[in-house]
Amino acid sequence: MPDVLIVGSYITDLTARTAALPKPGETVIGTDFQTGPGGKGGNQAAAAARLGSEVVFVTKIGRDAFGEQAKHHFMKEGIADTYIIETEEAPTGTALIAVDDKGENMIVVTPGACGHLSAGEVEQAEKVFEEAPVLLLQLETGMGAVEKAAELAFRKGAEIILNPAPYRELPDRLLQKVTYLTPNETEAEEMTGVAVTDKDSAEKAAAILLSRGVSTVIITLGRKGCFVMNNYEKFTVSGEPVKAVDTTGAGDAFNGALAHFISTGMELHEACLLANRAAAVSVTRTGTAPAMARLEELKRL
Ligand code: RIB
Ligand code: NA
Repeated sequence: MPDVLIVGSYITDLTARTAALPKPGETVIGTDFQTGPGGKGGNQAAAAARLGSEVVFVTKIGRDAFGEQAKHHFMKEGIADTYIIETEEAPTGTALIAVDDKGENMIVVTPGACGHLSAGEVEQAEKVFEEAPVLLLQLETGMGAVEKAAELAFRKGAEIILNPAPYRELPDRLLQKVTYLTPNETEAEEMTGVAVTDKDSAEKAAAILLSRGVSTVIITLGRKGCFVMNNYEKFTVSGEPVKAVDTTGAGDAFNGALAHFISTGMELHEACLLANRAAAVSVTRTGTAPAMARLEELKRL
């Protein structure tokens, strides 16, 4: 039985380290070029699978070299590929990533094949929606696929986690189906107009999102942890102090771990605490999907 169903993006990350991120029109010299599995959906799938979830991933990849690497990666991580569609219509998605000395990044995503994932293709996985207690979504694929997935999971009574990244405007009919909305500070500001800089502003932004129909808002605050609010409670879970080498995919580590722990029936505060730890472990390593934490590592922190 699947624990976590993920509908979303698979992308090949092409990453270089640079002393400082380039400014518009500037050329900088990079080092340590790497090609690796990524995409918000793919990273979240790896994060949940490494913690012990049975993960079913619905995505679309191209029939090309990056697609072949993707299949190898899914097998290695134990991510079920029954609903991974291969297509000739577009290449596997790619991300051009630069990471500077402080671990900050800049990313250009070209969704490619996963951008073509359609509502009809999501519907073909209907059986999994009946079994998985948790659906995890992000916003790198087309909105048709996202909305269809939310609709199917909502109908089956599954819990829906929506990581609204990268930001785009969302209809209330989607937000009303969301159990946990997990924006970072920037996305929370884009969605509400409230600049999230501290606990008070986080609460103000969360209140707006709750009024649009979401059940629980979890604003991730980077190294400061996360702020959680619903109609019954609000709390902050502080972050774990670690030395960041590469923060790319930290949000995905958090979301994948959150989905995993929620699927086990864990209480929300505890699930957020462990998701913070999973994100902290991931920033101490380079890369995205390959940097995800294993359960033993969370216990050690
Ligand atoms: O969240 C990080 C991810 O965003 C990267 O893996 C890249 O593929 C982009 O989708
Ligand atoms: Na990382």
